[in-house]
Amino acid sequence: MRPADLWRHSSFRLALGVTLAVLGALILAGAVGYTMLHRQLADRQDARLREIFTTFQQSDAADQQDLIEAIAARIKASPDRSSVYLLRDADGNVLISNINDIAIPAGWSTVEAATLDVPTDYPYRMFAGNLHGDYLVVGLSNADLDDLAEIILTGFGWAAAAVLVAAIAAGSWIAYRLQHRLNDVTETLARVASGDLSTRLHVSKRGDDLDVISGEINQTLARLGALVEAMRQVSADIAHELRTPLNRLRIHIEGAARNAERGVPVGDDLAAAIEQSAAIDQTFSALLRIAQIEAGARREKFAPVDLAALLASVAEVYADVAEDAGHSLRSYITEAAWVMGDRELLTQAFANLIENAIRHCPSGTQISCAVHASGTAVTASVIDTGPGIPAAEHDLVLRRLYRLEKSRTTTGTGLGLSLVKAVADLHGAEIAMSAANPGLRVELTFPRIHGAS
Ligand SMILES: Nc1ncnc2c1ncn2[C@@H]1O[C@H](COP(=O)(O)OP(=O)(O)O)[C@@H](O)[C@H]1O
Ligand SMILES: [Mg+2]
Repeated sequence: MRPADLWRHSSFRLALGVTLAVLGALILAGAVGYTMLHRQLADRQDARLREIFTTFQQSDAADQQDLIEAIAARIKASPDRSSVYLLRDADGNVLISNINDIAIPAGWSTVEAATLDVPTDYPYRMFAGNLHGDYLVVGLSNADLDDLAEIILTGFGWAAAAVLVAAIAAGSWIAYRLQHRLNDVTETLARVASGDLSTRLHVSKRGDDLDVISGEINQTLARLGALVEAMRQVSADIAHELRTPLNRLRIHIEGAARNAERGVPVGDDLAAAIEQSAAIDQTFSALLRIAQIEAGARREKFAPVDLAALLASVAEVYADVAEDAGHSLRSYITEAAWVMGDRELLTQAFANLIENAIRHCPSGTQISCAVHASGTAVTASVIDTGPGIPAAEHDLVLRRLYRLEKSRTTTGTGLGLSLVKAVADLHGAEIAMSAANPGLRVELTFPRIHGAS
């Protein structure tokens, strides 16, 4: 990664920002620490100076000679002249000293070493005052104090440099790693954009935030892939299945055209064409309705529904129709069983199932509706003793426009069970088809709710 690229990475800029903040804090802490320590040490040095001066003051210094000897002893004890002394008599003559003969004002002062003629770079802290008629100057080198400043500044300087290097290294590394993984995301999404929905992002075992996002994206891609595949299938099915009714329509119209040429009345042909186009229109309406249900917007209107009462009333409505067709329709429904749902759609789904049993079974068939509630589920079933559906076609009849071979000549769109499936999916219900020996059993199992509000 080039440095210019590095700068474009938010992770690197973040690392650098944090580094600068840490650096600022470090400098501030250093400055505060240094100031406090320096003041403390300066105070102590002043106290020591004051102590030395007082010691001379308190000694029995009526004897000037004793004072000179005491100072001489001190001077001898400080060969490096880290402590300096100068004693003048009342006439201004220097009595003893280890520095230049210069005028030092009374009280506190700070004097450069060169002025004192001491070969060092450090300044001196001085205290001067009258002492039993003489004038005494004592001074202490600032060497310790200034060394301390240097040690602290150097220490903080190195620490700051180390922090900076470590942060830049860490920032670059993080940016590099992140870029590596983001490249994977970018490339994968580019493949998706170009139409390949089977591609997936790499998910590492670490399970970090990027892995979580990648996992989510993979799941989305899987769902999207399944949806697109389903849609492709649906469009292919629809295109295939609609050719037959459209061909029929054309045949009717061609028949009408031929008859018109020959001067034969075309009323019957046109009536047949109208009927055929009405059937096509019905098919399209049903397809649209299923698509709308699948879009899921109706879920917002969900309310508690007593499925038992609902199925019982649908069965009641169809009782006469069933009887007219020579069937018997009974419902075995006792207790209430509540689910969350759309009353209108559920009614239509069960009507479709009962209509199928009536239409696709020979007369004399027994049709029964039942609702059974368990702890967490409600199962509603429509069972008939008719010819049933071969197990191999249980999934196929749920597809749009699919009809069993023998039903092709009967009226119907082949969309009744597709709508049942769409309604079941919308409600989070499982749809199960099985043989009722003889006959067909269709069971819808819903998540149960307790009581209505
Ligand atoms: N109760 C049933 N008994 C036997 N066959 C059935 C039954 N219900 C549905 N089928 C078969 O499944 C096919 C699809 O049903 P459906 O989607 O409702 O379409 P349609 O009823 O319009 O034909 C029907 O054409 C029929 O062949
Ligand atoms: Mg049907």
